[in-house]
Amino acid sequence: MDNQTFDFGMVGLGVMGRNLLLNVADHGFKAIGFDKDLQKTADFEAAASAGTTVKGVNTLEEMVARLTTPRRIMLLVPAGKPVDDVIESLLPLISEGDIIIDGGNTYYTDTLRRYEYLRPKGIHFIGIGVSGGEEGARFGPSMMPGGDEAAWQQLKPILSSIAAKVNGEPCVDYMGKGAAGHFVKMVHNGIEYAIMQLICEIYELLHRGGNFSNEELHALFSEWNEGELKSYLIEITAAIFRQTDPETGNYLVDAILDKAGSKGTGKWTSQIAMDMGVAIPTIDMAVTMRTISALKTDRVQAEKLHRELLARQANAAPAHNLSIDKKELAEDCRKALFAAIILSYVQGMSMLHTASRDLEMDIPLHNAVKVWRGGCIIRSTLLGTFYDAYQRNPSISNLLLDEPIAALVSRQLAALRKTVSLAALNGFAAGGLMSALSYYDAFTTGRLPLNLLQAQRDYFGAHTYERIDREGKFHTQWT
Ligand code: 6PG
Repeated sequence: MDNQTFDFGMVGLGVMGRNLLLNVADHGFKAIGFDKDLQKTADFEAAASAGTTVKGVNTLEEMVARLTTPRRIMLLVPAGKPVDDVIESLLPLISEGDIIIDGGNTYYTDTLRRYEYLRPKGIHFIGIGVSGGEEGARFGPSMMPGGDEAAWQQLKPILSSIAAKVNGEPCVDYMGKGAAGHFVKMVHNGIEYAIMQLICEIYELLHRGGNFSNEELHALFSEWNEGELKSYLIEITAAIFRQTDPETGNYLVDAILDKAGSKGTGKWTSQIAMDMGVAIPTIDMAVTMRTISALKTDRVQAEKLHRELLARQANAAPAHNLSIDKKELAEDCRKALFAAIILSYVQGMSMLHTASRDLEMDIPLHNAVKVWRGGCIIRSTLLGTFYDAYQRNPSISNLLLDEPIAALVSRQLAALRKTVSLAALNGFAAGGLMSALSYYDAFTTGRLPLNLLQAQRDYFGAHTYERIDREGKFHTQWT
């Protein structure tokens, strides 16, 4: 056995672990990876770039023994019990001051539990959100570490060198205390869900409503990606429209079943937002639409039944055909999409603001938007705009209170209203766009009709109400 030592260890050489570790090695660090699967360690070594120092091993003992101290060991194994199992296996082998990093999409309370468990043992635990998929992991992900700040400082040189860069700045920074890293990544995924849903709704309006062909959609989305909407998700959507199916020669997107999968991070975002009392309706709607998409058989049956019923009533069946000039429709859709995307980020950021305070994570919000500018799935030029807003006012509770952002949204608003009405009048399921508009309208309405709701609560349940003209709690004998 040679005596080579290593700077960074990885447990789990699946797609993400292997690519991230190769990225570490490419930046001049000696990288060692563990996987029980002999094929995976062999594949890892075979994929290494010339001149880099890598090793794949099949026992944790060997990996730990070869790491320089304090040891930096990252876990990229499936979230849940496998993470606990690896931690338990590592504990007898590692020493005080060593750092364990969990890079999976872990539920944030699990991260908090592990952080508290390892702290008295002198082991630093960093929960880190990693975004950007396979390509990002290999050539520059966005990373969201949280937990022990001193441990982050020790990881900073390696993580900064492997991260994506925007204007020379690495897309990795400290996200706050405890489980903040995984929390920020979860909200990132919630926003990802919302934007993907919004793009799908716009696709439907253009394709089914406006008769845009896949080639036209490719051209339109490519054009959009040159302007305000420039982002990773718009870019890949443009590319998807052009992809043909090697088997049939037809456009692949048309052959894909309309049932969406999910691994749960969007649902977690919605559940936790509800618990925290934060409104993120566009993310909620995106989760809901994936749920409805799964009901394929029922949907097909319901479409037939309801079409038949509506056809019997004059003018009642939605035409699904927007009689509007294609150019005008495209421009309305562009603006509506832009507004709704901004409003999705706004909702996600308001959730982080509340989590920072109520869950005592002390999340530097400007760091979250800074690391999302590159490498991650929701990267877009808009993040630079949000970054500027947080520079102006780091503790702003809602980005709609920032004047330049308010102005940016208001410029798209007429188009959003028009697009939502078109969708509603013509029977398109556009809950994402609708929820974004409702969020905007509710948040920017000084007096909502919920005075009546308070009266109702007091009427049937003596829940009391507050008044606009006096301090205190009041109850009325309504009957
Ligand atoms: C990323 C992605 C990544 C993964 C999602 C997919 O940032 O790189 O968010 O983490 O693709 O977990 O989530 P669903 O399977 O739930 O759509």
